[in-house]
Amino acid sequence: MPKHAELHLEGKSYSLPVLIGSENEKAIDISQLRAETGYITLDHGYGNTGSCTSKITYIDGEKGILRYRGIPIEQLAEQSNFVETSYLLIYGTLPNKLELENFSHTLSHHSLIHEDMLRFYDGYPSTAHPMAILASMVCSLSAYYPDSLNPTDPAQVDQLIPRALSKLRTIAAYSYKKSIGQPVIYPNNSLGFCANFLSMMFAVPSEKYEIDEDIVGALEMLLILHADHEQNCSTSTVRLVGSSLANLFASISAGISALWGPLHGGANQAVMEMLRQIHSNGGDVAAAIKAAKDKENPFRLMGFGHRIYKNYDPRAKIIKKHCDKILSKLKIKDPLLDIAKRLEEAALEDSYFVEKKLYPNVDFYSGVIYQAMGIPMNMYTVMFALGRLPGWIAHWKEMHDQGGNKIGRPRQVYEGEVLTNYRPLAERK
Ligand code: CMC
Repeated sequence: MPKHAELHLEGKSYSLPVLIGSENEKAIDISQLRAETGYITLDHGYGNTGSCTSKITYIDGEKGILRYRGIPIEQLAEQSNFVETSYLLIYGTLPNKLELENFSHTLSHHSLIHEDMLRFYDGYPSTAHPMAILASMVCSLSAYYPDSLNPTDPAQVDQLIPRALSKLRTIAAYSYKKSIGQPVIYPNNSLGFCANFLSMMFAVPSEKYEIDEDIVGALEMLLILHADHEQNCSTSTVRLVGSSLANLFASISAGISALWGPLHGGANQAVMEMLRQIHSNGGDVAAAIKAAKDKENPFRLMGFGHRIYKNYDPRAKIIKKHCDKILSKLKIKDPLLDIAKRLEEAALEDSYFVEKKLYPNVDFYSGVIYQAMGIPMNMYTVMFALGRLPGWIAHWKEMHDQGGNKIGRPRQVYEGEVLTNYRPLAERK
């Protein structure tokens, strides 16, 4: 492997260091490029730009591989739970029994939010999208912990991490309760992380709520699959905001906003909207495929395609496998699952999707399971946020732990007016 890359520019040669990752990922280090040559690189959408080195998550998009801290996603989805996977991502190793107990206990201990925050919900219209509420409520948490917001103090960060993990879950469930006009259900700390969330979502004070272990298991699996995906749009946002030394809650809130868009986490809601639309049009999947291929039509097949995966997204594979199992356990026959399968089959046989290597991504089948659990469609992206939270935290922490933090600040190629004199209003046409 070469140690340097040669760059020839304006008759001069420059030697740029080459970096090889532990899975053989090759990179050219251009950190001194502008200082030495006066040039910058231009890379719309950052498809060729590495913004950091990281030890958290490995993806091979060509082979469809995803690993957290080296462990294949299939093993974690099958054998781990969300709390353990969160620990793995954030602290770097699987916890031993005592570490896991302590971590779970700390999460339970921090499950309440300040009672005053309950009043915030009353200010939102009942039609407010829960992602809008989530982003602002998470940022508002900063107001309640002014003494532990310093990102460069590991002791303060350690206090904030379980708070963020535990409280985001409570905020999410409360936003649902408020939107349907039911009283909020306080966390029940005798329950595990996912069971506690389901209880806050679906229990009512007037009835006993039975935890369904199948639903808990499905939720554990879905959250694990969403827990990290290296430098995706929201995680890069969390790192960028964090690089200014913004506190953890503010950084995560920015990540939630980035996740909301339909090209990112908002795709899970968009997929279900699309499937419902196809269903109401008589289940015509061919028309959807045709529209997705039409360059004059802005419609895209939601839940299809990925910047990194040029193969079947391994998360989608796992979710699809579980769809039938979970729906049949819950005795649900969902016509949308049938439409999704037919749509996938039609797309994977179509030369447009084959040539562009467009496969189902994590969002294609997840909504079908959320729907079976009773989670409303506008909460799907909130579920994604809940799952992605340990990843955001892990990256934010890694960035600060690595030391030598540099504020994230890309450059640009300016294409605007050259020097132009100001014209007083009276002289303008
Ligand atoms: N339907 C139809 N055509 C598509 C699709 C799609 N879902 N995705 C990509 N293409 C086409 C696109 O039109 C382009 O064609 P051409 O080269 O002829 O202009 C080509 O494939 C490459 O697409 P791109 O937009 O340049 O690729 P990207 O890497 O910038 O975008 C993506 C990736 C995920 C934004 C895109 O595939 C997409 O919009 N998918 C639908 C939204 C979606 O499902 N998002 C969830 C992503 S996975 C979870 C997450 O990260 O949050």
